[in-house]
Amino acid sequence: MYNILITGAGGQLGHALNQLLGSQDAFNPVALSHTRLDITDADSLMDCLDTHRIHLVLNTAAYTSVDLAETSPDRAWLVNAEGPRQVAIACRKKQIPLIHFSTDYVYHNALRRPLLETDPCNPRNVYGASKLAGEQKTLYHHPHTLVIRTSWLYGREGHNFFNTIKRLSSEKPVLEVVNDQIGAPTYVPDMAAATLTILSKVLSEAGNPSWYGIFNFANEGEASWFDFASGIVSGSSNTCSVQPVSTSVFPRPAARPSYSVFNLNKIKSTFQLSIRDWKTALMDCMGNS
Ligand SMILES: NC(=O)c1ccc[n+]([C@@H]2O[C@H](COP(=O)([O-])OP(=O)(O)OC[C@H]3O[C@@H](n4cnc5c(N)ncnc54)[C@H](OP(=O)(O)O)[C@@H]3O)[C@@H](O)[C@H]2O)c1
Repeated sequence: MYNILITGAGGQLGHALNQLLGSQDAFNPVALSHTRLDITDADSLMDCLDTHRIHLVLNTAAYTSVDLAETSPDRAWLVNAEGPRQVAIACRKKQIPLIHFSTDYVYHNALRRPLLETDPCNPRNVYGASKLAGEQKTLYHHPHTLVIRTSWLYGREGHNFFNTIKRLSSEKPVLEVVNDQIGAPTYVPDMAAATLTILSKVLSEAGNPSWYGIFNFANEGEASWFDFASGIVSGSSNTCSVQPVSTSVFPRPAARPSYSVFNLNKIKSTFQLSIRDWKTALMDCMGNS
C-alpha cells in the first residue's frame, strides 16, 4: 500500500485525485486541504511526510485566482513559487518522487501550433510567472520531480468555467463569450486518471530518469472559450444563445494567451496514455455519453 500525499485537497483536482486513489486497493491517499497543510510551511511538510510515511507527493495546491493575482502578487508568488520549492526540498530530503501541477499560462509565446514542453515560456501575468517559477524551483531542488502542465480544468464540482456557464445559461437569454483565445478544456477526472497511470509507473521504477521533467496534459483537440461554452449550452436543456466576441470586449486585469494548445506526444508516449478529445469528455461530464 502506497501512502500518497495530496496537497490542496480542497481544490477541484485534489478532490478528484483523492476520490480516485481512495477507490484503488494499492493506494492510501493522505488528502490535506489548505487548513490542514500549508505548503509554504517547511516544518509542517516534513512532519507530514514523516507521520504518514508518504511514498509520493501530488502537489495540487496553488493560488489559482488569475485576475486577483495581479493585485495580490506576493500571495501568488508565495503559494505558486515558494510553496513548491518547499515541497520539492522536503521530497528530496525524504527521497520520494514529486508530481507537481502547472499551467498552459506559462507559455504565452507567439507560436500558433501545438506547444511542446521545450517551447519558449514568456508568461505575461502574475499567475503564469509565479507558476513558471514554481516549475523551475521544483525541478532545480529535486531531480525526481515530474511537472504536469494542464489547461482549462473543469468538472462537475468546484468553481470552474463549466459550472459558471451552466449557471449563467440558465439565467440569461444571451451569453457573450470570447472566441479569440484558443486552448483545450481538460476534464478533471481525465487528468486524475492520467495521474494515476503516471504515478503507478513512477512508483514501480522511481529511479528511471525518463519519468521526470515537464509534461503537457489536456484533453485532445482545441477550442475557443466560445466553442467550449457552446458545447456546454447545447448539451444542456437551456435555450440561451451563445454569441462570439473578441477579448477586447471583456478587458481583464490579467492578460491571457491567445493560443495555448499542447502537443501531447511526450506524455502519451512516455506513459502509454491514450487521451480522449475534449468534446467526448464534455459529453461525459454532462452525462450524455
Ligand atoms: N483550474 C484551472 O483551470 C487550471 C488550469 C491549468 C492549471 N491548473 C493547475 O492545476 C492545479 C490544480 O488546480 P485546481 O483547479 O484544482 O485549483 P483549485 O481548485 O484552486 O485548488 C487549489 C487548492 O490549493 C489550496 N491552497 C492555496 N494555497 C495553499 C497553501 N499555501 N497550502 C496548501 N494549499 C493551498 C486552495 O485552498 P484555499 O482555496 O483554501 O486557499 C485550493 O483548495 C494547480 O496547480 C493549478 O495551477 C489549473
